[in-house]
Amino acid sequence: MGTDYVLHMKGISKSFPGVKALSNVDFGLRKGEIHALMGENGAGKSTLIKVATGVHKWDAGEVLLAGRTIAPKSPLEAQRLGISTVYQEVNLCPNLSVAENIYIGRHPRKRGLIDWHKMYQGSERLLERLDLAIDVKQPLSHYSVAIQQMVAIARAVDISNGILILDEPTSSLDANEVKQLFKVMRILKQEGMGIVFVTHFLDQVYEVTDRITVLRNGMLVGEYLTKDLTKTELVSHMIGREWSVEEATGKKAVERTAGENFLEATSLGKRGSINPIDLQIGKGEVLGLAGLLGSGRTEIAKLIFGIDKADEGSLTIDGELISSMYPQKAIQKGLGFTPEDRKVAGIIGELTIRENIVLALQARKGLFSFIPLRKQKEIANYYIDLLKIKTPSAEQKIENLSGGNQQKVILARWLATQPKLLILDEPTRGIDVGSKMEIRKLILDLAATGISILIISAELEEIVQCCNRIIVLRDRIKIGEVAGANMRENIIMEMIAKGAEMYGGSDGIGA
Ligand SMILES: Nc1ncnc2c1ncn2[C@@H]1O[C@H](COP(=O)(O)OP(=O)(O)OP(=O)(O)O)[C@@H](O)[C@H]1O
Ligand SMILES: [Mg+2]
Repeated sequence: MGTDYVLHMKGISKSFPGVKALSNVDFGLRKGEIHALMGENGAGKSTLIKVATGVHKWDAGEVLLAGRTIAPKSPLEAQRLGISTVYQEVNLCPNLSVAENIYIGRHPRKRGLIDWHKMYQGSERLLERLDLAIDVKQPLSHYSVAIQQMVAIARAVDISNGILILDEPTSSLDANEVKQLFKVMRILKQEGMGIVFVTHFLDQVYEVTDRITVLRNGMLVGEYLTKDLTKTELVSHMIGREWSVEEATGKKAVERTAGENFLEATSLGKRGSINPIDLQIGKGEVLGLAGLLGSGRTEIAKLIFGIDKADEGSLTIDGELISSMYPQKAIQKGLGFTPEDRKVAGIIGELTIRENIVLALQARKGLFSFIPLRKQKEIANYYIDLLKIKTPSAEQKIENLSGGNQQKVILARWLATQPKLLILDEPTRGIDVGSKMEIRKLILDLAATGISILIISAELEEIVQCCNRIIVLRDRIKIGEVAGANMRENIIMEMIAKGAEMYGGSDGIGA
């Protein structure tokens, strides 16, 4: 037994102060399979991976690579053994060429000098093998995040000894890019590689994986063949109770007669970023922005919040014409903004959860009216409860939380300011199925109390479920609006595919 495993982890336990992240977990990866590692936020998926990749020392258990016991003490040592990981954030050097990135730290040399010819040839051959047409001499930054990720994978594959680990690689890819990634994964599987795939997108699990291991609260729930496990069963295993599809569909945004507008943008635009756009958000309305990656969704949010400066058009908030918008003013006017990339614009790793949560509230109050510690704790604990943030205490450093729980802290930060308009850019990215539903419900509850909400999401299902009205974007232009019975995924997809011609520009099809 066990000899057919390329990677076999036996009885792994790992504790952090106050948290038992893994208890006696078994995980076996076979040759030529794609194996999903599933579980709620904080279940222990990334920790298990970090044990295999030398990031964390483990407390008990054994790790075998192709039948041999290993104990990598650093990621570098794990790499030398042939274990390599690709995380959601690409950890390469954007200024170097694609080829240099593939060979970072292991440049081929000839008489002491870098052998460029060999490096280019090697990279070309490698990318060809993955059926990727990429110019290896171009700087990496020349390519989209998706392509950069493929390059990271190519590098990992070249280093690896038959296994590849992908921790949420698809969270910032659009549908076509996901397809391309899956093609690469299937090629590697055909070659006999074992692939670990972590994701919160259930559809992707069913599309590409052969086997599923489920963790819950740091414990192994079980290992299943994907074809034998229904989606309902999978989610029930993840959350530890019965679950129904009806639960997932949830309630919908209540129909609203267009009330007073909280925000009105007229011909608001910025050259090279977003074409002038008209947009109104009513009080208590949930407005969605749909469109592919790069269609201008985030750019609109940045203009409204004043992160980017509009060079034309006007913005009125609560009846007041705003001459020049900047984030501090936006916060004072009652706006909140959770950015899509929590690493760049969101969390401050060294600070505690409490400090991260009160940050925006403190900014609005001004630095001279310090929120008393007792009050801070009260606020932090309230949101930890409300959003079910998995942590031993509010005083934990946020960098020690799992990815999905960090995302929840950012949401808490803005909820704590009790905003009048909340802009949510990909609010449930990286968040597990159960919490996703809860956050969507929360959004609807907030709207019911009169708060206006602007949601940006690549998941059409999400905006269709939450919104009263949806603006559809393509190539940085508003191509239409849908509401009422027209708010269906296929209608929106068709609009995006066909573009403006069919729907006659920004008037679009109404309700
Ligand atoms: N460096 C650390 N210090 C303290 N606690 C940690 C550390 N890393 C992880 N944890 C804790 O271990 C538990 C498991 O976290 P892990 O990151 O493995 O979850 P995950 O399953 O990957 O979740 P997600 O889906 O949100 O990414 C969590 O409770 C987390 O807070
Ligand atoms: Mg994780």
